[in-house]
Amino acid sequence: MSALDHVIVALDNMNKNQIFEFLQKADNKIPTIKIGLEQFCNYGQDFVFEIREKHKLNIFLDLKLHDIPNTVHKAIASLNGLPLELLTIHLTGGARMIEEALIAARENLAGTKIIGVTYLTSLDQSDFKQLWGFEEEQIKGQFQRLIKLALDQSLHGIVCSPLELDWVKEIENAHDNNVLKVCPGIRFAHEIGKNQHDQKRVMTPTEAMDKGADYLVMGRSLTQCEDLVSGLKNLFSV
Ligand code: C5P
Repeated sequence: MSALDHVIVALDNMNKNQIFEFLQKADNKIPTIKIGLEQFCNYGQDFVFEIREKHKLNIFLDLKLHDIPNTVHKAIASLNGLPLELLTIHLTGGARMIEEALIAARENLAGTKIIGVTYLTSLDQSDFKQLWGFEEEQIKGQFQRLIKLALDQSLHGIVCSPLELDWVKEIENAHDNNVLKVCPGIRFAHEIGKNQHDQKRVMTPTEAMDKGADYLVMGRSLTQCEDLVSGLKNLFSV
């Protein structure tokens, strides 16, 4: 397995032509791409098949489903047969929603792993306080409750910021069980504090892998970098 096998490139902020140009430039160096809400709302299921057919890539469909259990079940069932490696739901949808997501995936998406989003990496302490009234010292417990829920429901993995990986490890150790850890909020060292866009809880690729991430989700740091080939080559050198 090469280091780039741990990197998932988020294909946001581009139209279809730009995406195919980007993939051409990447020259088969990226094994897995992420299609998010933007592209799925724009181009739908046909686009997923088209990308798979043209580039033979692994596909992570990041829909972050969050609704009542029946609606999430039906939404996943309607993706029947899509060639997906990973699909996201929000853990805050609760145990029943997670159960229905897993049932629908088993029935309709052979081999797709369902991954639960903890809290968005665009949220920080002041958002946690504003939204849920969490004081700083309560945040760890709130994360760990969601991580435990993912383990209890036998979800395949979770999405979290690399800053929470130590908290995930504590819960994994306590329950003698592991989940796949997929981490967005990744920025090159030279971007941290200067060019984080809307990401607030960030780390570099090397730091995140050292902390135990299984996959890094990287969007704008790669899709908008001047020299993609050297960006990919130097991903883990800083
Ligand atoms: O461009 P950037 O590297 O910030 O892209 C990160 C990607 O990861 C985006 O597609 C975003 O939707 C996704 N994501 C995230 N935070 C989460 C879950 C997914 O940033 N908690």
